[in-house]
Amino acid sequence: MLDFLGTKQRTHTCGELRTTHAGQTVTIMGWVNRRRDHGNLIFLDLRDRYGITQVVLDKDLSPDGHAKADQARPEYVICATGTVRERDQDAVNPKMPTGEIEIAASELLILNDAKVPPFSPAEGAIGNEEVRLKYRYIDLRRPEMQHNFEVRHKVALAVREYLSSQNFFEVETPFMTRSTPEGARDYLVPSRVHPGEFYALPQSPQLFKQILMISGMDRYFQIARCFRDEDLRADRQPEFTQIDLEMTFPQQEDVFRVVEGFLKAAFEVTGEKIDAPFPRMSYDEAIRQYGTDKPDLRLPPITDVQAVFTPEELESLKIEAHLPILAIVIPGQAEMSNTQRKVFAQEVDKIVGPDLAFLDVRRLEKSPQYSALAQRIDDATAKNCGLSRVEPENRLIVLWARLGTTAPSMDHLWLYKKAGQLRIDLAKRFQDEHKAFQKKGTADDYKFLWVTDFPFFEWDEGTKTWTFAHHPFTSPHEDDLKAGRMESDPEAVRALAYDIVLNGTELGSGSIRIHRQDVQEKIFQALGMSEEEAKDRFGFFLEALQYGTPPHGGIALGLDRLVMILAGATSLREVIAFPKTAKAIDLMVDAPTPVSDVQLRELHIRPTKQ
Ligand code: AMO
Repeated sequence: MLDFLGTKQRTHTCGELRTTHAGQTVTIMGWVNRRRDHGNLIFLDLRDRYGITQVVLDKDLSPDGHAKADQARPEYVICATGTVRERDQDAVNPKMPTGEIEIAASELLILNDAKVPPFSPAEGAIGNEEVRLKYRYIDLRRPEMQHNFEVRHKVALAVREYLSSQNFFEVETPFMTRSTPEGARDYLVPSRVHPGEFYALPQSPQLFKQILMISGMDRYFQIARCFRDEDLRADRQPEFTQIDLEMTFPQQEDVFRVVEGFLKAAFEVTGEKIDAPFPRMSYDEAIRQYGTDKPDLRLPPITDVQAVFTPEELESLKIEAHLPILAIVIPGQAEMSNTQRKVFAQEVDKIVGPDLAFLDVRRLEKSPQYSALAQRIDDATAKNCGLSRVEPENRLIVLWARLGTTAPSMDHLWLYKKAGQLRIDLAKRFQDEHKAFQKKGTADDYKFLWVTDFPFFEWDEGTKTWTFAHHPFTSPHEDDLKAGRMESDPEAVRALAYDIVLNGTELGSGSIRIHRQDVQEKIFQALGMSEEEAKDRFGFFLEALQYGTPPHGGIALGLDRLVMILAGATSLREVIAFPKTAKAIDLMVDAPTPVSDVQLRELHIRPTKQ
């Protein structure tokens, strides 16, 4: 029999009581986390968002309460009234904040029962993620998950507070809109009223926020939901949230300062320390030093050691001399068994492909012919990494192109990118041994970086055309425009685009925008978009640009990604309350689903496949 709550009121949460409350009569409510039956004494651990408190039912003191505790099972919802008392010394649990007290209950109400759950929130790690997602309400009861959402809440609040203190207005923009330009596929919403026509869910509020600048809003932000139909990964969800902002009359540095400000605030409220301003690095530098536009600065950079090879060495090792020779330090990988070495070599081969070769400098050291070369490589690498020498516990490999290799025509930094991929993949593969990735509890745990001066165009091998690297509303460098490079040398045009990178993850992207309609049209042309197509897709925007558009710029940061890093999680699903699987399914509500014929008819839709 379940009890009614009546007029009972909770006086304290399950995380609140301490020895200072001893002697007080209290009422707490929560879920049964664990139950231990010692005959005349039954212990119930009651759990809520705030913690766990032990309740004791003594048959002699409360026969009725004891009888109810006898029926109670995990996840039953309980109300317990009783006196707080200090536990005996030997019963104190130092791991629990409430571990020094317990409640000697005089009354127990069973407010609700529960089916045997598919897993217990009292367990630490739950292996089967599908079950967790299907029974998300049980999964979310776990303290780890509640902690993640506390972090999420605090971060969002700190960002809001900081941005409002800097004169930003939070403005909501529509969900049902036209296709936006972020380059993924749209989620479409069919219109009942306009047969054959569709709204698109926004991939980002990009055009609306620019229009808000044209509207004189001066500073806008939004914790904005975005929708993208793209291949999903651990750090990608079809629905995700951006900290999106836009400013009027900014220089790039103004945007950086605002972002550094709210990130500092967000890290502070979660008890983490970071140093700002963050370092800045151009795209070109990032690729040459780290082989990627999202460098993880916790790992040492790549070093071009071409200069330390003699012509004889180049010849005898069959190295393509006009391409760089790149040294990579892989921390903590010097000692390997033969089997490990084989696996390692296979991994590297898989990444580098047939045109490239690599050599293990630690083995080279042992060869009489090449030991001097090994020393020179070691010295050059150490110098570049700012070390007196590459520590012997680190593996050092060099990567080069085999004789006769030609670089792909449009991508002169291709070899650096390969080295960059190797640097990260191997580091991740052997992550457990990495001092670099271990948390130190200092500002060094979080290596932020601004990457600037992205190329304006990217070569698309698939379509053999130039496409935009960020989005088509990003402004080129004024110097490149003035010098006519748009026409003469598109590859050399730099964008006023920037990324913020944290520990090798792209946290956000933004740019100074094009504010002139003539420039915007030129860009569409350069991207091979006909006037008609541009008008068709973005006509409303081109029109708006003609009514006094101020210079403006902004950025968007992935809130989910930020919280994921702050919560120490490895997947966005740990920090989104109701996420989708890699196949874009919501397992709890079971979406997507087929809809009725009536609905389809109303929407003027006939599926080709049921
Ligand atoms: P961009 O497309 O680079 O830029 O997105 C900005 C940031 O949003 C996050 N993000 C995602 N997070 C989770 N799942 C996804 N599928 C996903 N896609 C993107 C990333 C990314 O850095 N309108 C521009 C911003 C601007 O120019 O102001 C934009 O959306 O953290």
